[in-house]
Amino acid sequence: MTQTTIPGEAVSLAELQAVAGDGTKLRYALMEMASKIPDAIALGRGDPDLDTPAYVIEAAQAAVADGRADAPTPVAGLPALREAVARKLREQNGIPVDAAGVIITTGGQEGIFLIMQALLDPGDEILVPDPRYSSYDQAIEAAGGVMVNVATEPADNFDLLPSAVEAAISPKTKALLIVSPNNPTAGVVSEASLRGIAEVAQKHNLIVISDEIYERYIYEPSVQVSIASLPGMFERTITLNGCSKTYAMTGWRVGFLAAPPEFINVLAGVKSVLSGYVSPASQYAALAALTGPQDILAEYKDIYLRRRQLMMDGLAEMGFTYTEPQGAFFIYTNAASSGLSAFELSYLLLKEGHVLIFPGTAFGDKWQDWLRISLLQPEEEIIEAIRRMKAVVERRRK
Ligand SMILES: Cc1ncc(COP(=O)(O)O)c(C=O)c1O
Repeated sequence: MTQTTIPGEAVSLAELQAVAGDGTKLRYALMEMASKIPDAIALGRGDPDLDTPAYVIEAAQAAVADGRADAPTPVAGLPALREAVARKLREQNGIPVDAAGVIITTGGQEGIFLIMQALLDPGDEILVPDPRYSSYDQAIEAAGGVMVNVATEPADNFDLLPSAVEAAISPKTKALLIVSPNNPTAGVVSEASLRGIAEVAQKHNLIVISDEIYERYIYEPSVQVSIASLPGMFERTITLNGCSKTYAMTGWRVGFLAAPPEFINVLAGVKSVLSGYVSPASQYAALAALTGPQDILAEYKDIYLRRRQLMMDGLAEMGFTYTEPQGAFFIYTNAASSGLSAFELSYLLLKEGHVLIFPGTAFGDKWQDWLRISLLQPEEEIIEAIRRMKAVVERRRK
């Protein structure tokens, strides 16, 4: 393969380096660069490429056609949708919640922001596993909170250990964030760890935020346990989830939070000034998603599993190591054997190989050797991406 330069290169290496310390800016700069490369294969973002189920689209069309899409809903969401979410959480997750304990949000993203605004006072510390989805940083910062890292390690399959959580607690710690399955590591917090963390949270009076947005894509033998279902935990847990990942509905922007009703009322107060209610057409779509046939999720999962295997095989051939992804649709891989830092490697993979992959440093400073690869392209594209990646890596090793 001949070495190419990016036509009309949007972002130079120097510009990338300038934002390297800010995970979110770095991700966006790389995406900007990729957008100028016509044949780029994007294994960057975590938004499912699969089609939203047809019955979901039809429900939204019906709401548009008969005027419901233009009729306001309560800020906390359509009563029928809150009810459907509560039922799902009770039946699938064992969380003892009813509709009054649910708020519908503009994607999980708004949920993160609302939680931090409602929960954190300036100077409050919140424990966040490292590496992490960097959007949390901005939400915490905007609320005046202080993010404190809790290490997770490949040797533990990126489990979040109760001992590590407890060691990070200070008198200022107010809350703990759990993300399982995790972005970027694709690790799952084991049930034993969750039980230990629940004890720690109760002992130190911590609020727990449990981001479960990838929960439906979990690979055997890992299992999904919602911490809010454990004894004494619902009272102190805010569970975050949504439709973007489960139903391939990123663009519809529907997320939801579950918590004790008093806290939901506080969140609704913040949401009323921030954005009001979620687009009703999207809420009717989400209602159809949650109450309609669920068999399509098994099809989606099979697709992700096949892609995951392809990429794991490709990485092994490249000499990159990884812990087997237990959930979500990412692979977090150690690319140290390339001889380059992950930042340089990401740049070269894009510039020369036209493959967009985020460096681990977009998710935490210490991940200099790591890449997060998302599996949100058809198999042919993944095969082609692996071919290009190998060519770039082999050239560097010569
Ligand atoms: C861990 C995690 N939480 C929340 C979100 C927000 O998702 P959305 O706003 O699409 O619902 C994302 C998106 O990538 C994520 O990775």
